[in-house]
Amino acid sequence: MSTNTVDNTRKVTTMRLAEMKQRGEKIAMLTAYDFSLATLVDQAGIDVILVGDSASNVMIGNPTTLPITLDQMIYHARCVTNAVRRALVVCDMPFGSYQGNSKEALSSAIRIMKESGAEAVKIEGGCEVVESIERILSAGIPVMGHLGLTPQSINKFGTYAVRARGEAEAQKLLADAHRLEEAGCFALVLEKIPAALATQVAAEVSIPVIGIGAGSGVDGQVLVLQDMLGINQGFSPKFLRRYADLATTIRGAIGSYIDDVKNVDFPSPEEQY
Ligand code: KIV
Repeated sequence: MSTNTVDNTRKVTTMRLAEMKQRGEKIAMLTAYDFSLATLVDQAGIDVILVGDSASNVMIGNPTTLPITLDQMIYHARCVTNAVRRALVVCDMPFGSYQGNSKEALSSAIRIMKESGAEAVKIEGGCEVVESIERILSAGIPVMGHLGLTPQSINKFGTYAVRARGEAEAQKLLADAHRLEEAGCFALVLEKIPAALATQVAAEVSIPVIGIGAGSGVDGQVLVLQDMLGINQGFSPKFLRRYADLATTIRGAIGSYIDDVKNVDFPSPEEQY
């Protein structure tokens, strides 16, 4: 459990996140995709749980985030909302559910809110998706933006390398951040961009900016749960800090169970009826 002194029982809302930014309190966000781990993440006192489309990689084993469907995202978000009491739950809108057609974007967002119980949606992209964002917001659905490395566009970028190192891309990102704030997004994720640029965005916009691989000058941080717990060992970017080595722990526990079964050490007389 966290040792900070903030109120760890009051429900987190988009309004509370805005207040946190105003008083300089950092926002802690993690992903979760299932009931059991979302229960623990919420009990530990996290502020925001993102049901990320990284579920495509982490839960389904796809090589990218592109194949995950709206139905699958709703399923994972429902598993999470069934567990969560305090954190704000944000659900990613998957690839193909909002680009190009704002009416379709709105009906996808409405399905997420009605069927999963999530409290907000996240959308990748800048001015090119503003029409969709505005239509979703007009239905009273809070939207979190996502700029920088946007994994749904991997086929356009061709690489997961750091984004916006050059002046032109940095200027577009700044303009997009302002446009998303103006449209009414309640927060922004900045993924894998230079720390100085992320710090500038967080200073220029009034909404909370949550970074992943974007340095410490932003208003909060997000990591993928399985990465920071050391369950997923095949992913080691510079920005990732591992807080546990659960892969070793889990393999060890399962190895002990296999040994006990093979040696008839399990079940013991006390573990039988
Ligand atoms: O899908 C995801 O997990 C994300 C985070 C990396 C921000 O979008």
